[in-house]
Amino acid sequence: MNILFVTSEVHPLIKTGGLADVSRSLPRALHQLGLDIRILLPGYPAVLKQLPKARACCQVISATADGPQARLLQALLPGTEVPVLVLECAALYDRPGSPYQDASGKDWTDNALRFGFLCQVGAWLCGPHSALDWRPDIVHCNDWQSALIPALLHHQEKPATRAVLTIHNLAFQGNFEPQWVTRLGLPMESFHMHGLEFYGQLSFLKSGINYADRITTVSKRYAAEIQTPAFGCGMEGLLQHRSDDLTGIVNGIDEEWNPALDPAIAASFDATHLAAKARNKRALQRECGLTRNPAIMLIGMVTRLTHQKGLDVLLACMEALTQYPVQLVVLGSGEAAIEQRLQHWAHLHPDRVSVTLAFDEALSHRIMAGCDLFLMPSRFEPCGLSQMYAMAYGAPPLVHRTGGLADTVTNCTPKTLADKTATGFSFDELTPEALQTTLLRAIACFEEKKGWRALQRIGMRRDFSWDKAAAQYLAVYRQLVAEA
Ligand code: ADP
Ligand code: GLC
Repeated sequence: MNILFVTSEVHPLIKTGGLADVSRSLPRALHQLGLDIRILLPGYPAVLKQLPKARACCQVISATADGPQARLLQALLPGTEVPVLVLECAALYDRPGSPYQDASGKDWTDNALRFGFLCQVGAWLCGPHSALDWRPDIVHCNDWQSALIPALLHHQEKPATRAVLTIHNLAFQGNFEPQWVTRLGLPMESFHMHGLEFYGQLSFLKSGINYADRITTVSKRYAAEIQTPAFGCGMEGLLQHRSDDLTGIVNGIDEEWNPALDPAIAASFDATHLAAKARNKRALQRECGLTRNPAIMLIGMVTRLTHQKGLDVLLACMEALTQYPVQLVVLGSGEAAIEQRLQHWAHLHPDRVSVTLAFDEALSHRIMAGCDLFLMPSRFEPCGLSQMYAMAYGAPPLVHRTGGLADTVTNCTPKTLADKTATGFSFDELTPEALQTTLLRAIACFEEKKGWRALQRIGMRRDFSWDKAAAQYLAVYRQLVAEA
């Protein structure tokens, strides 16, 4: 079976969040199951730089005469056997920094064209005029940046490729002025509420939800949540309408997140040799300028600093938190106001609070290895990978019980600890009070060493491998191919 996996980020070539991790691990797992899967992604400077040996495989023939000059390069995704097709188009992608925004944090003004073109090329590779002698049976789209492909296929004559759309985050929708409909090669007749239109705009994500043959999202709980007004971002009605074709498949974590083999951390450890974790804690305290106290609970956070991640609720607790026997290490980047407020607390309590405003892959591993507890009070969380990395690194997560956090973290109670299912701490209502109460519960547990060790070990022994998820995606693909 041939699969074209279209995405706007792939680790280690370019990454802003979990989509990049999934776009590496899932294709790799599917490749190992014997599928001929190829990744299509834009040729940002960071991507081209890391693939110096990529070979040109074809010119892109645009559907419109004034389409940009572009070609496809092919290489293997570093560390895998999975081919990547890199869409090289300097006019659209040769820009520094983030794939989505300029240096001031504003979305690139031509994002409709940048990702619309990615979609056009994806659809072209599925159709009869593709320059490759390889046709996908399935095109697997991810988030809004590739979600226009199903609509483009729908308007092709006799499309042979079936489309799967995975929603990693419904809050990002790719909504643009209606003039883009025809500019991106779609007929104005499909600009209506059962097609491309969403509150007067062309919506990439809504059109994907409308036209994809199957829709998946990254946890079961989020699949249910997005069909309600509280989480549906205005698309709950449509998602309810398509609920028979909507499945939740929980993400896995990549093999590189393994504290026994991780080259980025100070000392290796595993569930049976947990004592060495203390050396990572000491190293992290030193690196972050915190008091070197092995007995104090060290809380870690690695996150995009956005409203989604519930940092406002954490900030509302900071006064109380600095009274508790804890230290806090935060690595993140994002909204300027959140960055400043976090830094304020780091300046007030440099021995207790450390804030690093950066995107730093290696430091994120050292935090997982060194912290005792991992904090993730997300307002909503489609899946979340960091809480699973934390469990694998013996740092029980403390989470708001939503989306994938609800599906992957089992709250620690006397009962769940006794029956060996407890993996962390969770609470229902996202309020400062609930966060503080849960934190006090975690601190009490931490001080009771035997129970804490047991909690760490249960999390470390959980199976978060990609095999389970990959098998479920394969079943989705097979069903679609059988229907065709
Ligand atoms: P989301 O995709 O919503 O950001 P996930 O938990 O699914 O949340 O994935 C986040 C990924 O991005 C993880 O691999 C995490 O380690 C990484 N990450 C987020 N912020 C940073 C940062 N500042 N530095 C390094 N890695 C980060
Ligand atoms: C999104 C979500 C996150 C999920 C990731 C990968 O960025 O916010 O919850 O884990 O995609 O699917």
